[in-house]
Amino acid sequence: MSEQELPYDFQVVSPARPVASIAEDAQKGLFDRPRSLPPKYFYDDRGSRLFDQICDTKEYYPTRTEAALLQRYAQGIIDLVRPCHILEFGSGTSRKTRYLLDASHGLQEPVCYWPFDICSTLLHDVAMDLLHEYPGLGVRAQCGDFTAGIDHLPQPPDRCLYLFLGGTIGNFDHQQARGFLSEVSAHMQPGDALLLGADRVKDHLVLHDAYNDAEGLTAAFNLNVLSVLNEELGADFEPDQFDHRAQYNAGQQQIEMHLIARSEQSVYFSHLDQTLQMRANEGILTEISRKFRPEDLQQLLQEAGLRQEAHFQPDNGWFSLVLARKAAAGH
Ligand code: SAH
Ligand code: AVI
Repeated sequence: MSEQELPYDFQVVSPARPVASIAEDAQKGLFDRPRSLPPKYFYDDRGSRLFDQICDTKEYYPTRTEAALLQRYAQGIIDLVRPCHILEFGSGTSRKTRYLLDASHGLQEPVCYWPFDICSTLLHDVAMDLLHEYPGLGVRAQCGDFTAGIDHLPQPPDRCLYLFLGGTIGNFDHQQARGFLSEVSAHMQPGDALLLGADRVKDHLVLHDAYNDAEGLTAAFNLNVLSVLNEELGADFEPDQFDHRAQYNAGQQQIEMHLIARSEQSVYFSHLDQTLQMRANEGILTEISRKFRPEDLQQLLQEAGLRQEAHFQPDNGWFSLVLARKAAAGH
């Protein structure tokens, strides 16, 4: 079947509110201290593929743990929600979504899958793979930035299971997480449900190793953001002049990932006509990855107008999958 004949649609979701450009984010985040960048810039084509490789390292337990939960509970979740549509925020390679697509097989009508991601190349390639793997599956790819609001994201016309997997909710601070989940809740119709994957607080060494794999894939993923800035803003970062650092901050319950200058750096941004000066050992915060306790998740959902309907976790409590519904008005 040619691409035109497939039950496939690729839409660009325009921002629902003004959102900073990469130039503005670099200006605001890099030229003032403490230096930081939004994590969405990791995910160009190379960064997305590096993330997928991280998922297979022995140290990075979240993917494996969440996959095992989905393998076990996907059928129960599908039987409970009986979705006509599955819409996934930050879908990436949709590798774990396949458990839910498989479990949907017995539904009266085949489901329509709506992957939503910022990385257009990966989104398109994954959609093509799924269309061939799942005859009868409709795919409506949505390409956009979910931090720019989701009011312009089309609303599925019938019962929908929303997914936000992988612990990506942890890459938001508390306020951003509450804001995003409130927007998802506002998008939901009665009968819809949200399946949220969140990483849990655990042994510090396990957390540390997950973000410091021996192969150096997480380091390559982190350093790749400098190549993105070189490409997008005409900067001249030398990635080999920076070290990857990921540490667990127990007080904040989060991994903090930095890029640390090995020596004094002078980086010219031709698109900004500005030079960034960094001292040796100075860092840029590139990502936080928050870890939750079950009660943190309950509270977060409640603050976003959602109520927890079911909570799935492995025996070691390393990861949570929470099924949530819109709370009744006034609750
Ligand atoms: N859900 C997958 C992938 C997680 S990686 C899993 O569990 O393995 C995070 C995904 O979110 C990536 O695919 C990335 O491209 C996407 N993403 C990150 N920031 C985004 C943003 N602001 N808007 C839309 N997608 C984003
Ligand atoms: C996508 N997100 C949930 C990953 C995480 O664990 O916070 C991104 C990541 N960063 C380093 N390794 C993986």
